[in-house]
Amino acid sequence: MTLEPFVDPLPLTRTLQPKERFKCFTYYEVTMKEFLHNFHSNLPNTRVWGYEGEIPGPTIEVTQGECVHIKWINDLPDRHLLPIDHTIHGSGEDMPNVRTVVHLHGAEVEPESGGHPEAWFSRDFAQCGPRFAHTVYKYSNNQKPATLWYHDHALGITRLNVYAGLAGMYIIRNEQEDSLGLPSGKYEIPLIIQDKSFNEDGSLFYPRTVDNPPSEFPNPSIIPGFVGDFIVVNGKIWPYLEVEQRKYRFRILNASNQRFYRMRLDSGQPFVQIGSDGGLLQRPVTVDEITIAPAERVDVIIDFSEQPVGSNIILTNTARTPFDFGAPPDPNTTGLIMQFRVISREGTDESQVPKFLTTVKRFNESESKRTRDITLDVTQDRYGRLMFMLNDHMYIDKITENPMLGDIEIWRIINSGIAVHPIHIHLVQFQILDRIPFDVEAYNLKGQIRFTGDPEPPLPGEQGWKDTVQAFPGFVTRVIMRFAPYIGRYVYHCHILEHEDYDMSANLR
Ligand code: C2O
Ligand code: CU
Ligand code: CU
Repeated sequence: MTLEPFVDPLPLTRTLQPKERFKCFTYYEVTMKEFLHNFHSNLPNTRVWGYEGEIPGPTIEVTQGECVHIKWINDLPDRHLLPIDHTIHGSGEDMPNVRTVVHLHGAEVEPESGGHPEAWFSRDFAQCGPRFAHTVYKYSNNQKPATLWYHDHALGITRLNVYAGLAGMYIIRNEQEDSLGLPSGKYEIPLIIQDKSFNEDGSLFYPRTVDNPPSEFPNPSIIPGFVGDFIVVNGKIWPYLEVEQRKYRFRILNASNQRFYRMRLDSGQPFVQIGSDGGLLQRPVTVDEITIAPAERVDVIIDFSEQPVGSNIILTNTARTPFDFGAPPDPNTTGLIMQFRVISREGTDESQVPKFLTTVKRFNESESKRTRDITLDVTQDRYGRLMFMLNDHMYIDKITENPMLGDIEIWRIINSGIAVHPIHIHLVQFQILDRIPFDVEAYNLKGQIRFTGDPEPPLPGEQGWKDTVQAFPGFVTRVIMRFAPYIGRYVYHCHILEHEDYDMSANLR
């Protein structure tokens, strides 16, 4: 199937209005529904799932410190849209096929509202998982203003539920940020990037199993990672956006299952990155290229004021899949993300990008109470399939990560494999200390780490708050964080969703 790029305009996400505003909290209801969505003018409608019947879900915008209560309602059918592998943990035949739980990614949130994978619920809360606590989730939003996102997290089927469409953006704002004068209103645009594949009839395609599966594989069977043939931004395939000759702020989220994007503008102009996962950077950084892993967010300013009216600028992708050793994208299809069409400016551009954005207080290594090693492992299951793990444990194994409330810890993420894994930790925003190359061969033989070079500092765009970090192969990636302000059960995991489901996820208490 081929589809022409840059045919449809970029849809702008809608901001969800609360159902009620009370004195001390705001109340929302968000319903998950099955519906038909059009991904491209030349493609028949596609049956999908979405929050409030939208793809992506509506954007939720809150003020720092505003207490928000959300009732997440599952009104989905009983049958799943996509093939379920019942052999993987938490996804047995005895489970309701359609079960959901909403996680607010990047939020500092109490455990009962954290969207733990075992807190799932089926339609009308008829059946609930062992960690289900309540129907209305509470978000205190006591954290830095940031671009967060909400998505499904049900144990064993997260990859399918998110791919079916259950994802949306959540923005926390405050006065300090508003006073900076950054581009705002219609010049501040969320971009939610995903990749999808379709059958000829327009229905969503997700592989039942790997290509040429050995006979012993179950069917359906989980695959090591999904990549789609089409790049979708805000629900349209390769859309275009008319931009005035001025500055724009784009909050970019990679909500893909496995695909990384290495983004550039084909006009040769740079991005001015102002924020990362957990909020603004201390100072803007100018970069020609940004690599965004699944679940990461980058907040960028693009200045079109020097671009001639009538010029078309393409946001391109050169990231290989699996990242960063697999096949490069096709420059005519998956190497394209979207297009900007420059038109003349309405009025003057009053926006600015201050040299100083906000204070990012760096943790000091000496404050750390404990250093933990987290190994990224791959093994084979009883069918001979790849299974990914953390610390050589499966998800159901005992909890070994149990920091004390308020403690600062350093985690050393040890990647002796060949792929980059985006590792995400719930509850906290962390800082990246460095990445240190080590002798992988010696490590695999003796289990000892011998560093082979100097620590590499985080990239300029990674020097703020992060909740997801690219753990490079052959490197020990060190992050530092404080475990607060809640106690309870959370998880951490790889955000390649096929890895997360099988079985690169662990509890954190
Ligand atoms: Cu974005 Cu545990 O998730
Ligand atoms: Cu998360
Ligand atoms: Cu992974």
